[in-house]
Parts: sequence; structure tokens; C-alpha cells
Amino acid sequence: MRIGMLTGGGDCPGLNAVIRAVVRKGVLHYGDEFVGFMEGWRGVLDDVTMPLNLETTSGILHRGGTILRSSRTNVKKIPGGVEKCVEVLVKHGIDALIALGGDDTQSVNLALSEMGVKCVGVPKTIDNDLNGTDVCFGFDTAVTVATEAVDRLHSTAEAHNRVLVCEVMGRNAGWIAITAGIAGGADVILVPEIPIDMDEVCRLLRYRWEHGKKFAIVVAAEGAVLPETEQVSHGTKLDSFGHVRLSGIGQVLAEEIEKRTGYETRSVNLGHTQRGGTPTAYDRMLATRYGVAAIDLAHAGKFGRLVVLKGTEITDIPLADAIAKTRTVGEALLAVMKGLQPLASS
Ligand code: F6P
Repeated sequence: MRIGMLTGGGDCPGLNAVIRAVVRKGVLHYGDEFVGFMEGWRGVLDDVTMPLNLETTSGILHRGGTILRSSRTNVKKIPGGVEKCVEVLVKHGIDALIALGGDDTQSVNLALSEMGVKCVGVPKTIDNDLNGTDVCFGFDTAVTVATEAVDRLHSTAEAHNRVLVCEVMGRNAGWIAITAGIAGGADVILVPEIPIDMDEVCRLLRYRWEHGKKFAIVVAAEGAVLPETEQVSHGTKLDSFGHVRLSGIGQVLAEEIEKRTGYETRSVNLGHTQRGGTPTAYDRMLATRYGVAAIDLAHAGKFGRLVVLKGTEITDIPLADAIAKTRTVGEALLAVMKGLQPLASS
């Protein structure tokens, strides 16, 4: 087969590991040829490609970023964009297209699939919010980076008797915040799934002070929101998929905490450090398993589907199911978080 591949949306540790696995299994076991489209859907639209073979994908397993580059190009918003993509794919003689991306990328994958393109999706996002899969590759690396940051913040917070608010990514899902928060022993964890209760935040902080600990760590998801307000964003500009750039809730919280409690408070926004750099061993493994499953799916003739992890097994679901809703943090994990905090009566 002649297979096209692209990486769309925000980059994510493990993209190169998927690309390598797809190409290795495709070339070595199926005799496939590959065309890499550059910068997500933009590369298909503008017909910008690179060769993908054993040579060009060698030595990339451990590398962050993506050799195919990425962008948030939404061809569905461009008049005639989807049709132009189909034309370019036909021109290259593409038998199947493998798109690595989150919900936005997979929504374009679905649109092409509905026009007859033979598409397979691979779930990518550090946010871990893609519906239908238990884990997206890249999430473990982001959590590892965030947990290390939370560990490091403890000593400086303690040295200065401060509250340190650590803002992490995740958009409208609190997976990174709750996982790094619990793993790093944060005193307060704020996720988009529950509106922020400032009285409760201050109660938890005062409890610590009253029990002899004169420092505290707050982990806040970038999408966490105060009641009756909007999410805090960097400007109002929307990307081509209609998202604002979430950023700044950490600083808002730090000011409010200091005002209400009198405890000196600082904020730190981990931002893109969570997305950059080398993937963890877990993400390399998951990415490799997804890559092998994706090329196998193409050869099984199962198109319009996304490879997913269910429990410990890799399987696949319709692309439409993957983008049907955002997968947010469930009650069970929220209960673990709450179970570690003092009750109001204590
Ligand atoms: O979707 C992944 C993500 O890293 C989000 O957590 C974050 O809100 C967003 O991308 C940042 O996007 P950009 O790289 O365009 O600033």
C-alpha cells in the first residue's frame, strides 16, 4: 500500500515513536511505501511532503516534537479545503491515510473519511481528553514533567513560608492537574470539572498553617474556572478550531489567595515545558503499540476508525465516537483527591 501520514494539533511527546513504528512495520512486514505530509492538514492542503522510510525514521524513537512538524490548520474552515485535500491525496496515489492527533485533527480525519478517503486515526494529546481511549500517548510524559515541578516547588515554598500555585495544561479536562497533583502531594488541586470554591481553597490552606506547615502547593488546571466567570485566557483570539489560548488562572488564584489569607503566594505556569522533550518509556511503548496497531488496521481494511487503549488491550473505535465528547476526569479519581483532604469538620 501507499500510505500518507501526518501529525496535527499541539505536538506531543511520542509522535516520532508512532511514526517510526508505523513505517517499520509497514516497510518490513507489508512492503508499504509512505508519504509524510508536513505540518498537519496544512501539508495536505498545500501539498508539502517529506519521504518517510527506514532511513528518515531512524533514530527518532526517543525524540520529542515531530519530524513531520505540526499545525492547527482546520481545512474544514477553508472553502474547498476538504476537496483540495482529497485531490492532493489522489495525486500522490495514497491508498490510506494515518492521522496522529486529538479531537480537532480527528474531526478532519472523519470529514475526509466521509468523502471516501481511507482514514485511520491515532489518539494524541497530553490533555488525555480524547473520548473512547483510556490513555493518549504524551499524557504520561506531561504528568511526569508536572510532577517533578511540583516536587521541586515544595522546597522553595517551604524555605519562604509561601503558597505556590502551579498552573498546568489540559484545556477543559483536569487529567494532568489531578494526576500530577496527587502524585506530587499537592495540598489543593483545581480542575475544570469542579468550579473553584475560594472559601474551600482558603480553608484547606489555613488547615495546613494551623497544623504547623507554613507552606502549601496548589495545582490548578489551566481550564479551572471561578464560578460565574469565564475561563482565564491569553487574549480573546481563537484558533482555527475555535479555541482560546487558556492561560493565567494560576496568577489570578495566587492574588486571590494572598488577599484572603495573608499568606505570601506566587504562581508558576508550566506551559509548554509539559509538551517538549523526550517521551517517557511508558509513552514510547504506548506510541509504538498504537503505531503497529494503526498500520495493521489499514491492512485489515478497517477504515474510519481510531486505535485506542482499553484496559491493557489496544483495540479500535469509530472516529465519530472519538470526537463525540470530551473525556473529563470521573468521579472515582475526584473521590481519591477529596479523600486525601481534611474534612470541613476536622
Ligand atoms: O491540546 C494540547 C495543549 O497543550 C493544551 O493543553 C493547551 O491548552 C494547548 O494545547 C496549547 O496550545 P498552543 O501550543 O497552541 O499554545
